Amino acid sequence: VPLDDGAVVIVDYGASQGRNSMAPMSAAVDPVRGRRPGHPILVFHTDLPNNDFTSLFTIVAEDPQTYRRPEVFTAVIERSFYDRLLPSTSVALGWSSIALHWLEGVPGPLRGIWYADSTAEQHAVWKVAAARDWLQFLSSRAEELAAGGELVIVCGAADAYGSSGAEPAMAIVNAELAAMTSERLLTPTERESLAIPAWYRTVDEWRAPFAADEIGLQLVGLELVELGDPLWDEKPTLRLSRGLGMTPSTR
Ligand SMILES: C[S@@+](CC[C@H](N)C(=O)[O-])C[C@H]1O[C@@H](n2cnc3c(N)ncnc32)[C@H](O)[C@@H]1O
Repeated sequence: VPLDDGAVVIVDYGASQGRNSMAPMSAAVDPVRGRRPGHPILVFHTDLPNNDFTSLFTIVAEDPQTYRRPEVFTAVIERSFYDRLLPSTSVALGWSSIALHWLEGVPGPLRGIWYADSTAEQHAVWKVAAARDWLQFLSSRAEELAAGGELVIVCGAADAYGSSGAEPAMAIVNAELAAMTSERLLTPTERESLAIPAWYRTVDEWRAPFAADEIGLQLVGLELVELGDPLWDEKPTLRLSRGLGMTPSTR
């Protein structure tokens, strides 16, 4: 990443409470330290305004993996990452993990609560919205990134058929909502208004804005990794309790 005279700006987009940000931020801060000892670094954590930033500050102060070092400063931004968040060409390195599946809003009604439970027509509307949001995110970052700056994104994805692996869990949630509607805990109108505004993109969808060269950013690498489910493989006895556990957590 570029090191100018001013502070190096690193941004963590969609940080939540920041627990999973400590290791990646340290991995970014330490090489800068190696290249320029004592050079000031500014780490911005961004999330929506209702995020628990208080816990984030505690984690930055106390977590054993914190990136907190002398001349490393923390700040937060309480605004959607679909907007531009920082001055033009100010960011050396951007990071975002497990956040970009969240769309900017609910694109439209769904037959179920999850985009895979949609009619073909609904699916098409959501697909267009997901493409628009991805392009919007990249366009905002393209303005913020300094020349030579980089953006690293880790996110859930879908295979070429659009399957993310979340479908069985969502089927349990759907069944539970149907049961709650039968039990009159939800009205049919409330049930119909529920939709999770998420979309897991295929490799082609992730690549699309770069192929059309719409944004002036270059795609350096893209890797689809099948993570499996380590807990599922490790402890078959957990399978039943996890399945049953979905019911109360859904309610
Ligand atoms: C699953 S958490 C991931 C948190 C953290 N990055 C991690 O890897 O553990 C997703 C986060 O993205 C945030 N998020 C969703 N949509 C967002 C948006 N439009 N702008 C900023 N943050 C957003 C959510 O509020 C949530 O805190």
